[in-house]
Amino acid sequence: MDYSNILMETDGDILKITINRPEKLNALNKQTLVELNHVLLDAFENAKVGGIIITGSGEKAFVAGADISEFANYNQEEGENLARDGQYKVFDLIANAQKPIIAAINGFALGGGLELALACHIRFASENAKLGLPEVSLGLIPGYGGTQRLTQVVGKGKAMELILSANMIDADEASKMGLVNKVCALDQLLPEAKSLLKTILSRSPKAVAAAILAVNAAVSTNGFATEIVEFGKCFGNEDFKEGVSAFLGKRKPNFK
Ligand code: COA
Repeated sequence: MDYSNILMETDGDILKITINRPEKLNALNKQTLVELNHVLLDAFENAKVGGIIITGSGEKAFVAGADISEFANYNQEEGENLARDGQYKVFDLIANAQKPIIAAINGFALGGGLELALACHIRFASENAKLGLPEVSLGLIPGYGGTQRLTQVVGKGKAMELILSANMIDADEASKMGLVNKVCALDQLLPEAKSLLKTILSRSPKAVAAAILAVNAAVSTNGFATEIVEFGKCFGNEDFKEGVSAFLGKRKPNFK
């Protein structure tokens, strides 16, 4: 497959996947999700790949969310399918991977971008990173597992605050609440992520895979299905039309 929205680079047994749409702050459009699905499945099959780092292109954004322009006219069913498909083909694939995956958050990680980082097993962030789930400001809720995985990582209280307020936090605050494992200078982000991944890859691969399974089992939940249905319902609301047209028209939404 020819990839137009992601870049790949290998360093020994580490595969770096870079989401590469910097002009759109690396927003996840359909094509990017298809490419991610493909490259991940390939990497899982490839014995030469021990672990993966996911990052964003440029110095401004990791991923600024799902591509809002693509779903602006979706109805409830299309919204629900968007969430289910994405969760199944990319986000759950990452979370359940049998090889360790680290998110190197090099700037904005918003909406689907933070959900992508949350699906990874470990998160490192650069000092300039800004994180948040702004969906309710668009009349939506997170649909790629964010309501579940943010709650698992930072606890219900902080998850409620971040999701209901749609506020962004900086890397330090994210680190204090355990949302990111480590904060690094931007130029140290990838070396630091690689260094931890190399340590993990020096351990027993079978035991690492088993540990991922067991840790995931500790936080398995049925909430993902609820999120998909509630995400879909949002697409039937006037608030969604107002929120999305406000973003695309570069103005503040006026929710009734
Ligand atoms: N979907 C589609 N396009 C997006 C996007 C997204 N999630 N995030 C950013 N972009 C696009 C912008 O529309 C803009 O495109 P244009 O140059 O063709 O107008 C480009 O990326 C640059 O973004 P811009 O908003 O001009 O940068 P900024 O520095 O002023 O603001 C953000 C940065 C991250 C605060 C702002 O882009 C933003 O709020 N993005 C949406 C975040 C979001 O709600 N994500 C959740 C989606 S479910």
